[in-house]
Amino acid sequence: MKNNTKFYVQNIWTKGVNFYGISNPIELAEKYGTPLYVYNETILRNRCNELKNLLDYRNFKINYSAKANTNLSILKIIRDEGLLVDAMSPGEIFIELKAGFKPEEILFICNNVSDEEIAFAVKSGVMVSVDSVSQLARYGKINRGGKVAVRINPGVGAGHHEKVITGGKNTKFGVDPILIDDLKATLKQYDLQLIGINQHIGSLFMTSEVYIEAATFLLEFAENFPEIEFIDFGGGFGIPYHKGSGEQPIDLKKLGIKLKCLVDNWVSKNGKEITIKVEPGRFTVAECGVLLGRVHSVKMNGGKKYIGTDIGFNVLARPIMYDSFHEIEIYGTAERDNLFKETVTLVGNICETGDVIAKDRSLTKIIEGDIVGILDAGAYGMVMSSNYNCRLRPAEILIDKGGNDRLIRKRDELNDLIIHFPE
Ligand SMILES: Cc1ncc(COP(=O)(O)O)c(C=O)c1O
Repeated sequence: MKNNTKFYVQNIWTKGVNFYGISNPIELAEKYGTPLYVYNETILRNRCNELKNLLDYRNFKINYSAKANTNLSILKIIRDEGLLVDAMSPGEIFIELKAGFKPEEILFICNNVSDEEIAFAVKSGVMVSVDSVSQLARYGKINRGGKVAVRINPGVGAGHHEKVITGGKNTKFGVDPILIDDLKATLKQYDLQLIGINQHIGSLFMTSEVYIEAATFLLEFAENFPEIEFIDFGGGFGIPYHKGSGEQPIDLKKLGIKLKCLVDNWVSKNGKEITIKVEPGRFTVAECGVLLGRVHSVKMNGGKKYIGTDIGFNVLARPIMYDSFHEIEIYGTAERDNLFKETVTLVGNICETGDVIAKDRSLTKIIEGDIVGILDAGAYGMVMSSNYNCRLRPAEILIDKGGNDRLIRKRDELNDLIIHFPE
C-alpha cells in the first residue's frame, strides 16, 4: 500500500513534506507496531540549519536543549550538524557523551541538584550553570578556583502555558538579579571565575519581544562580570502546532536581526567578542516527529463520539499536561461510506478520563483499524513517556535522508517492567 492509496483520508502535511519517505504510515505501523514515534532526518537537519542561520555573528553557538528529545540517533544527527548541547541532569550528560559530544560541548543547566550531581558534571569536564547563590557556594566547595556559569532570572517570562514560563516572578528558576552582591561575594569566597550567564524565559513563544527584552537585560547584567566569556539567551522558539490554520513558526529572521543589533552594540561598547548562545529544544526537533497510533474502538457515549486509540498519555503527555494542541492526520486502512467531517474526541487507552489527545475535533470519518498520526510530536514526546498502567513505551524509527526507515529505539518488552525489582 503506497502513498497514493485511495484509503488515505487526511494526510495533508506529511504528504507535502514526503514525511514517510519511500514507505507510508500504514506499512510502518504494520512493520513496527503502534504506538510508534517516526522521525524524519531531512526535516531535523533543515531545522538545525535554520537555527545555525539565526545570528550573523562569528561567535554564535547553538546549544540544543536535549530535554526535548534524547534519542541517541537524533542526538548524533544534531551533533553532526555542528550544534552543541545542554543537559538538565547527569543522565542527559551521560547520553550526550555517548552520542559523541565532547565534555566542553555540553552545558549542564542544573536545578536543585545534589552535591553528587555537581561532582559528576565537574568530574566529566562539563561546564555547570548553577541556579541559586547557595548552589554556587556548594559548587565552590566542590570545585574551588574553577570556572562556573550562573542562570539569571531576567524578570520577564513567556510561553504557551503557565507551567512552562521560566522567567519572571512566578517561577523557581534562576538567580534574582537583586542578589548580585551575594553572587559576587560567593564567587570571591570560593575563588570562582564566572565565565557564563544564561537565562531561559520559557517555552513556545511565537513572537520575539519578550525574548529581546530579556536579552537586553542579560547583556547589560553581563557588564558586571569582566571575566565573562559567554552569554546564553535561552530557548523557547515556537513552532506552528496549528498547521491546519496556517500558523507560522516564530520569525527567526526578525529575531536574528534584533539580536544582532543588540550583540553588535555590546561588542563595540565592551571591546570583547563574547560567545553568544541560544538553547532551543522544541524548534529543533518538534516538527521532525510524528506519533502513529491505531484506532481500536469507535463509540458513542453521552451523545459524543469517541475514537479510542493506543496513544495513551503515557505515550504523549503534552495534551494532558498542558492542554496542548496537535494536528491529527488520518490514514485509512479500509474504505468507508463517506468522507464527511464529524466532531470527535480522540482518546488513549489509559484508565483515566483525562486521557484525551484531542477534544471535540472536526475530523474526517475514522473507523476502527485506521492509523492516526499526531503531528509535531518530536519534542517532549518520547522523553516524557512512561510505563503508567504498565504500558510499554513505544518504539522509535527514523526515516533517513534516502527515505528508508530504520529502528532507532526498541519498543519496551513486558520483561522491562520487572527488571529493576530485586529477586
Ligand atoms: C533551561 C532550558 N533551556 C532550554 C529549554 C528549551 O526550551 P524549548 O524546547 O522551548 O526551546 C528549556 C525547556 O523548557 C529549559 O528549561
